[in-house]
Amino acid sequence: MKETSIRKTALEGIGKSSALDINSVRRDFPIFAQTVRDERLVFLDSAASAQKPSQVIRAISECYESQYANVHRGVYWLSEKATEAFDSSRKKIGAFLNAASSSEIVFVRGATEGINLVAASYGGTFLQPGDEVIITHMEHHSNIVPWQILRDQKGIILKVVPIEDDGSIDLEVFGNLLSAKTKFVSVTHVANALGTVVPVKEICNMAHSVGAHVLIDGCQAVPHSQVDVQKLGCDFYVFSGHKLYGPSGIGVLYAKEELLHQMPPYQGGGDMIESVTFEKTSYADPPQRFEAGTPNISGAIGLGAAVDYVRSIGLDKIAAHEAGVLDYATECLSGRNDIQIIGTAANKASVLSFVIEGVHPHDVGTILDQEGIAVRTGHHCAQPVMDRFGVPSTVRASLGMYNGRDDIDALIGGLERVREIFN
Ligand SMILES: Cc1ncc(COP(=O)(O)O)c(C=O)c1O
Repeated sequence: MKETSIRKTALEGIGKSSALDINSVRRDFPIFAQTVRDERLVFLDSAASAQKPSQVIRAISECYESQYANVHRGVYWLSEKATEAFDSSRKKIGAFLNAASSSEIVFVRGATEGINLVAASYGGTFLQPGDEVIITHMEHHSNIVPWQILRDQKGIILKVVPIEDDGSIDLEVFGNLLSAKTKFVSVTHVANALGTVVPVKEICNMAHSVGAHVLIDGCQAVPHSQVDVQKLGCDFYVFSGHKLYGPSGIGVLYAKEELLHQMPPYQGGGDMIESVTFEKTSYADPPQRFEAGTPNISGAIGLGAAVDYVRSIGLDKIAAHEAGVLDYATECLSGRNDIQIIGTAANKASVLSFVIEGVHPHDVGTILDQEGIAVRTGHHCAQPVMDRFGVPSTVRASLGMYNGRDDIDALIGGLERVREIFN
């Protein structure tokens, strides 16, 4: 099978600070206090959803225990307290992304809803038949299907940047797809099935030079690197809270304020209006315009706590630590000639996808599970990536800040067991 090269990681902020104290981090995550079938839990599936630190769990339970009421509606003390906590989360997230204002932060259910919102509201309003939208071949389905729906509704043309053999994209090839017809570019920051770090800053510059707007899907980037939306220059940025050690059912759409002001609502209902009569309804300003109905109050508060937690550890430390563990894992797996790593780009973050000759990934996952090792197997909601590399699925080990070399040693041990069984 193909030999893989050891990659280096190039997310921002690496190597700038002292080491992360993994034992102290692990103590923050109550889930690691238990064993799985008498084995230590080795959790290598944070790209699907990360575990939650006590700080986040506590913030959610405190929300229900002492500050719960509907937000933006009551004049009473408890509702004001809940509203204050909810609004303060928005501010924390704005600062986390370095948005120019917290009004640029829209709470959504997750990245999927964020992308659908942009495709429906921005795309439905501003894109015309024949306009071109560019995505890449390495997108999660949530950054493919909304654009296909728009294509079917509006007659836009969807163009796809191909993936190179190592799992990267070639900016020159992207540049060749750009033209005056390109009105929108929607790309992932880090590819969930490959780990490739996409040069999104360059993509923003290039797309802007032809007058296109850019959305970045940051699901797999925000837990692993410092993201600065102003430095990136993107127009939209989305991520899901549950991958950033926060709760599920809450996510973030960042959008430049001037764009949000031009966009019509995505859904109608309470909280997003200024006034309603049967003849005419006027809408609230963003971000409320895009948050119809009672929001996920405890989710937003929990996500604020997750942001506080990640910042208290330090994204520079997290990035450096994870890069070291990923290098180690890559080196260990590269030494085995029955394993093919899928995604060997020079710049990667936190994801190691691979196949073992002669063994179905689901069997690998099931055997590893017997040893208390949780990995993801399947197409990772990126079927076009599987097609590109000619595999039906992969085993994906993905890292969070709590993973160490001991987890990789356990994985390697588990893979030896797989080999024994399938010899
Ligand atoms: C790159 C990427 N984009 C989008 C999503 C969708 O996230 P969610 O299901 O939380 O909306 C995921 C989830 O795996 C992802 O990895």
